Amino acid sequence: MPVKTRIAVLVSGGGTNLQALINAQNDGRIPHGEIVIVISSQEGAYALERAAQAGIPAYAVSKKKLGSQQLFEEKISSLLAEANAEFIVLAGFLSILSADFTQQWPDRIINIHPALIPSFCGKGMYGLKVHEAALAKGVKVTGATVHYVNEIPDGGKIILQKAVEVKDGDTPELLQRRVMEEAEWVLLPQAAELVARKISEEK
Ligand code: GAR
Repeated sequence: MPVKTRIAVLVSGGGTNLQALINAQNDGRIPHGEIVIVISSQEGAYALERAAQAGIPAYAVSKKKLGSQQLFEEKISSLLAEANAEFIVLAGFLSILSADFTQQWPDRIINIHPALIPSFCGKGMYGLKVHEAALAKGVKVTGATVHYVNEIPDGGKIILQKAVEVKDGDTPELLQRRVMEEAEWVLLPQAAELVARKISEEK
């Protein structure tokens, strides 16, 4: 049995990417990792419900309530330490992490972005806005990217990418759904296993 890397999943919303990770774990597709904690930046996010249903400890940490980025990140850091997390997967986590935070986790944080980086990425490009921008530009192909997270939003080294066709008559919602089904939910578990395996082999 491989030594499992302890994975923290950070979320903000519906958590369909978290669900893809949970399903992959249950199917044995993440043999080198184990999700040990879920942290949401939004109270009441449906992702928290998905974690609870899977029996994974889940917490909400509200930047608004805590009052500053520093206190927000301190709270996240203490939850990660309590869970002995070794690897962070951002799965629809829509809050930007500071350089102070990301520098503590070099090559230990990955993110899923719903476009082919370097297109339609960076600060302010998240969720439906990404697909609105892709449609406004008229691209015929978009996709998803999993990348390491550093101090530059969407700027870290690319791990996996998958292209998805844009179809006539697409709305941002239709395109978002196709990118999730064809790319995000496939790539994120694959990338989580790749990095979890790398970390477990370094131990
Ligand atoms: C996903 O499409 C994810 O790629 C995107 O937010 C959505 C979250 O959905 N993330 C970003 O835009 C990050 N810049 P989910 O909560 O159902 O996984």
